[in-house]
Amino acid sequence: MLEEGEMEAPSEPGNVERPAYPRGDKVWLRAYEREDIDAFLEGANSIDTGSAAGYDGTMGRYHAEKWVEKRPQEGHGHGSWYWVISPIGSREFIGTIWLWNGDGRFGGMELSIFVRASAGHGKGIGTDAIRAALDFGFGNTETERIWMFTMASNTRSQRAFEKAGFRRDGVIRHLARLNGQWIDGVLMSILRGEWEADERPRSWDYIAAASSPATGASG
Ligand SMILES: CC(C)(COP(=O)(O)OP(=O)(O)OC[C@H]1O[C@@H](n2cnc3c(N)ncnc32)[C@H](O)[C@@H]1OP(=O)(O)O)[C@@H](O)C(=O)NCCC(=O)NCCS
Repeated sequence: MLEEGEMEAPSEPGNVERPAYPRGDKVWLRAYEREDIDAFLEGANSIDTGSAAGYDGTMGRYHAEKWVEKRPQEGHGHGSWYWVISPIGSREFIGTIWLWNGDGRFGGMELSIFVRASAGHGKGIGTDAIRAALDFGFGNTETERIWMFTMASNTRSQRAFEKAGFRRDGVIRHLARLNGQWIDGVLMSILRGEWEADERPRSWDYIAAASSPATGASG
């Protein structure tokens, strides 16, 4: 039951008059809500998603609650953006994607993502979400460079980022220790000029089409 003055969150980007959500062809990026904690926790602690995305598998509910309460609130919109990935037409939590710069040692912004295994990997969801975040990053800030790093063995992730226009900067040897073994990392990035040269529909093209009274398209 909504309190007086509270607005119901739109269930999809197409159902508000001038939607401002970053979106792609398949997914839209929305703010974290308290209801997302269980799904976030499950993804963060999963070997299929969280481990590959850099979580160490020991996030507890208290930690997740504090994170969802504080980090998006304090960081979101202040040089960092933290979104939930939802399918167009739904608010289901199928993943998370951030533009941020954790320790500020590299310029530009880091892009971090996981898509829940239950949503299905290899179906284009990750690439679509990465593109939407890139459109937001390059379209709404002055950043020159957006980068990621992942384990060298994480070839699916590298392929998704490559499809979204990232190129390999190099290998970071023995970046971290995992399960008793040293593992190499791969650093990839996309520069503003490369994003500009990528001729594909932008996030705002999908938004415009979805809200166009001429086409009546809903996404
Ligand atoms: C990385 C991730 C976000 C990509 O999302 P996704 O929805 O699976 O990505 P896409 O379907 O858009 O693209 C994956 C591509 O890798 C390919 N692929 C799948 N398994 C692969 C493998 N083992 N090796 C190489 N490529 C692989 C897919 O076929 C697809 O390429 P294609 O379209 O040319 O066929 C998702 O897999 C994930 O959450 N992984 C765990 C967390 C993680 O690794 N995060 C990134 C760290 S920064």
